[in-house]
Amino acid sequence: MKISVIGAGYVGLVTGVCLSSFGHRVTILDKNNSKIRSLTKGNSIIFEKDLPELLRKQLKKKKLLLTSSYDDVAQNDVFIICVDTPFINKKPYKKNLIDSIESLLSVISDDSLIIIKSTAPIGTFREIESLVNKRKMKKNVSLCVHPEFLREGSAVSDFLNPERIVFGTSNPSDIDLFKEIYCKDSFQEKILIMSPESAELTKYAANGFLATKISFINEISRISERCGADIEEIKLGLGTDSRIGDQFLNSGIGFGGSCFPKDLQSLSFKKSQLRLPDGILEAALDGNELQLQNFVDKILEFKKENKISFENFSLCIWGMSFKPNTNDLRDSQSIKLVQKLIKHCKKINIYDPVCKKNEILKQFSNNSKLTIFNEKYKSIKNTVGLVIATEWDEFKNLDFDLVKTKVIFDGRNCIDKIKCNKNNIQYVGIGRG
Ligand code: UDX
Repeated sequence: MKISVIGAGYVGLVTGVCLSSFGHRVTILDKNNSKIRSLTKGNSIIFEKDLPELLRKQLKKKKLLLTSSYDDVAQNDVFIICVDTPFINKKPYKKNLIDSIESLLSVISDDSLIIIKSTAPIGTFREIESLVNKRKMKKNVSLCVHPEFLREGSAVSDFLNPERIVFGTSNPSDIDLFKEIYCKDSFQEKILIMSPESAELTKYAANGFLATKISFINEISRISERCGADIEEIKLGLGTDSRIGDQFLNSGIGFGGSCFPKDLQSLSFKKSQLRLPDGILEAALDGNELQLQNFVDKILEFKKENKISFENFSLCIWGMSFKPNTNDLRDSQSIKLVQKLIKHCKKINIYDPVCKKNEILKQFSNNSKLTIFNEKYKSIKNTVGLVIATEWDEFKNLDFDLVKTKVIFDGRNCIDKIKCNKNNIQYVGIGRG
């Protein structure tokens, strides 16, 4: 099968590289030329487990091609659209998606299937369908919706071991093509066929549900810390109930990233268009803000209780990406945390295992109060408190001989509280009264 993937972001890159590993001849197209040049040399651009190795392997096998030109994909049969659909000015922004469809329609020369994998607002399928119909194409162009459920940090493994493969279509004759794309035997029974609208909403519902689960446990954590309970014990008590499940019950400083905040906002926007009142989804978004502020308040309370002046208040923050095992800073709670704390501190030191210094500083308009360190233990020197903002494995096994701060503010409950206290360091976690 000759497949084109449009857009070489997280989703497009992982999709293209993995599909080529199934034996398809895949061309990844991105309008950013320098990205394409890097990828052609085997540099995967993003920090994603297993991706660089698979990318280089597929390039070597000549099963994977990269281009910036739509003319180079004109002869392909299947086009998977993976361009970004951000939320800008309180609205979903679909221009990149529509532009890429327009560009495709002006070059495709044969019967083809266009797969919308970008997360697009409900109704986008019908909008694109009428756009295709208006073009009165000579060839048969079929459309479908195919949401992605890839988690950054384990996206390759998620793609290769899917729990479900959702296609939304109004054209049952395309089902054989879907099966051919996901040609492995083990995938066949995982393919779920539904209407385009259901597929569009399934994606938002999945992310909405998971984000709500996080906001729920975070709300319980705020109750827990005010009544002497421990959210880590409660998590066990809840997660062992198979009806609830033990995933997405980690209490912390809230959810971030390129999907949850944007998808919840987008779904809430759709609700307002449908004249539906605010409900659980909006509460999940508000709860996420509240949870971060609650953590900031605890840090400031410590400062006040210990009578630490502004001049003497310096913090060290570990972890800037929105979660571990990625260098993605988009909508990261860590960034918002620094923004909230900066005016209360004389200085803030920052360490992240993979994010680049200039990328981090850019988030804060190069604020001179911030210093970025390459070595984590050096970053703590001469600071009052260490703040854990992301639960990287390397943070979990702290060498306490090298930590001399008065306090650890553990925003992800990943540090051993007992060890901390044994080393005469005060421990402030989430939901641990
Ligand atoms: C998410 C979905 O999981 C994925 O299916 C979808 O396709 C894209 O969006 P991703 O954004 O990569 O994936 O990250 P995920 O692992 O889901 O975490 C999202 C956020 O929730 C992170 O900020 C993470 O720190 C936070 N989180 C997650 C918690 O605070 N607690 C948890 O228990 C789990």
